[in-house]
Amino acid sequence: MASMKLTGKGRRWVMGGHPWIYRDDIAAGTAQAGDLVQVIAPTGESIGWALYSDASRIALRLVTRGEEQPTREFWMQQVQRAVDTRARAGMLEPDGACRLIAGDSEGLPGMVVDRYGKVAVLQLGTQGADRMGEFLVELIREALPFELDAVVNRSDTAVRKLENLPKQTEVMQGSVTGPIDVRDGDLLYAVDVFQGHKTGHYLDQVDNRRRAARLAEGERVLDAFAYDGLFGIRAALAGASDVLCLEQNKAACERLVVCAERNGVADRVRVERVNCMKDLRARAEEGEEYGLVILDPPAFARSKRERAGAERGYVELARRGLALTRSGGALVSASCSFNIKASDFRGFLASAAQLAGRDVWLERMTGAAPDHPELLTLPESSYLKCAFLRAD
Ligand SMILES: C[S@@+](CC[C@H](N)C(=O)[O-])C[C@H]1O[C@@H](n2cnc3c(N)ncnc32)[C@H](O)[C@@H]1O
Repeated sequence: MASMKLTGKGRRWVMGGHPWIYRDDIAAGTAQAGDLVQVIAPTGESIGWALYSDASRIALRLVTRGEEQPTREFWMQQVQRAVDTRARAGMLEPDGACRLIAGDSEGLPGMVVDRYGKVAVLQLGTQGADRMGEFLVELIREALPFELDAVVNRSDTAVRKLENLPKQTEVMQGSVTGPIDVRDGDLLYAVDVFQGHKTGHYLDQVDNRRRAARLAEGERVLDAFAYDGLFGIRAALAGASDVLCLEQNKAACERLVVCAERNGVADRVRVERVNCMKDLRARAEEGEEYGLVILDPPAFARSKRERAGAERGYVELARRGLALTRSGGALVSASCSFNIKASDFRGFLASAAQLAGRDVWLERMTGAAPDHPELLTLPESSYLKCAFLRAD
């Protein structure tokens, strides 16, 4: 079994709690792509076990700080812990959906698994994860309280390039012939696991959509960057008087229309296929007003270098959102950029309030749904911020 010795700096970093080890912090050792390797301190004692990448700057991702080499039983425990956590949170209804395994933050580096009804969708982001795909499916099947009908490998994220891995989308087990129906309480929606964003759906926003819907009764609602419109459709189900969704992706707009019909709210939900940045400005100039405005754009800062531009983008977007929010209305503003901290985002929203000349109260700042747990010593696992604001 391969082992790798760390530098003193590398050892201090890992002992500080972070589970990633950068290539510069390895003093000696060789391994093959995706190998499980023992991590050794400069003084020779074992630090734990990690999965190795021969391509990424992140050379090692720790799976355990224990001395024993991980066995099948160890991996089973990791998977079972993740599944049991969802079961305790009531997230395992067979016709529902959840993130079953959240990768690095749950000790399963690079391994993300979402579950839509009885279909599991894997997103494998590292060489180690890629090698473990089949084994992971075996463990998930063993851990789940119901049988899966199908398993899809949707490993087509950009990060795979950093790992020298090709993009890959395939049905691993069973068959998937079309969109998968999911029920979330009174909401029914369909997920395209092959063409949809991420693994087909934004599961991280499930709780925030419910919270936003509580503000919707009797209100005109604007859902900008709507994807398939589930903030808006949830708002309509909660009694919004009318909902306008804005989205540029054609397939998402089509799914949105079907979804509104299936949920019986098509008479109060419409979608326009537009560029939100331009469209929101035009609507604000025309004096449109809404009781609830939702802004859920894609990440503006995909790297540290993009932070300055992202700040301008978030401030300007929130300013436009505020211009469209009626006096006493609510603005829900989200950022999924890992590179923007919650405190920075709060500052951007304050700048927007200043520019708009409005008093704005932050009623709640939330994150992703609990099936996207953040490991406190892995700041990279914290990315979604969702501010619930009230404007004077
Ligand atoms: C974070 S997702 C929104 C998720 C959605 N709110 C939900 O709850 O599922 C961002 C969406 O913005 C869309 N988008 C990106 N840039 C856009 C633009 N300039 N105008 C309109 N839509 C845009 C993307 O197609 C994507 O669907």
